[in-house]
Amino acid sequence: MAAVTELGYVVFGVSDLAAWRAFAADLLGLEVCEEAGESGRLYLRTDYWHHRIVLEADGADDLNAAGLRVAGAEELDALRARLGEAGIAYEEGGAALAAERRVLDLIRLRDPAGNPLEIFHGPLIEPHKPFHPGRRMHGRFVTGDHCGVGHMILRHAGLDKSQAFYRLLGMRGGLEYRIPMPGGVFDILFMHCNQRDHSLAFGPPSTKSVNHLMLEVENIDDLFMTHELVKASPYPILISLGKHANDHMLSFYFASPSGFLIEVGHGGRPATHQSEYYVRDTYGHEFSEQLHAGMSLG
Ligand SMILES: [Fe+2]
Repeated sequence: MAAVTELGYVVFGVSDLAAWRAFAADLLGLEVCEEAGESGRLYLRTDYWHHRIVLEADGADDLNAAGLRVAGAEELDALRARLGEAGIAYEEGGAALAAERRVLDLIRLRDPAGNPLEIFHGPLIEPHKPFHPGRRMHGRFVTGDHCGVGHMILRHAGLDKSQAFYRLLGMRGGLEYRIPMPGGVFDILFMHCNQRDHSLAFGPPSTKSVNHLMLEVENIDDLFMTHELVKASPYPILISLGKHANDHMLSFYFASPSGFLIEVGHGGRPATHQSEYYVRDTYGHEFSEQLHAGMSLG
């Protein structure tokens, strides 16, 4: 069955490109690239891909697209047919957008909550251009074995609707956290498509499409180096260092220049491909006073 194979890239609309440039390079360690003739746009690299993150200076301060990869042209055609049979609207990305995204072909659609998606195949890989971090790093970002750029929590309009939609795209998953909170139980849905525990998750209430983007570093020293740099920066840490019960990721969360969060993590375990759930994290991950309880997790 044709299926999404990874969260290949993400596109964010931002209001302060200059702040993002410094944030990406100096705090995150991402490689920042520009292309001739493309003003108002930055490409962020974490590996041999042309880009893993696109920043577009349009003032949105939110997700402009989640780029979901399929294996090839046949799989993209099969998904077109499946979406058509299910009555889900999509549009062709077209040659101009494909060239801009550096992919061979793509379609555009929205999930049940209106989150913007691009399903693509054929990303531009540049083995002649090794990743060059924006600042010193001990190791590299974890993107190998087609596990993608990382993961995101997105807005939802009912967990059942999100689960059904992403199942249609060939992803698997279900509820992994059921957290007792004042006033009720808080459920979070996690969907995976490769060896990464989850590529997309849904649960926390959000006015933006994106709650957070997680980037994983392979060397634990890079996690603590980033933590030290963020502590000395104007960007507040909103969820303290801790370990997730589901993906075993040691991580912390901090604000980006666009308001949504960045999670930097280390040591995530591979997807177990079996259903299980948790009622709290292993340790840590305390919410700051700035973050309302239940705003972000996963
Ligand atoms: Fe996360």
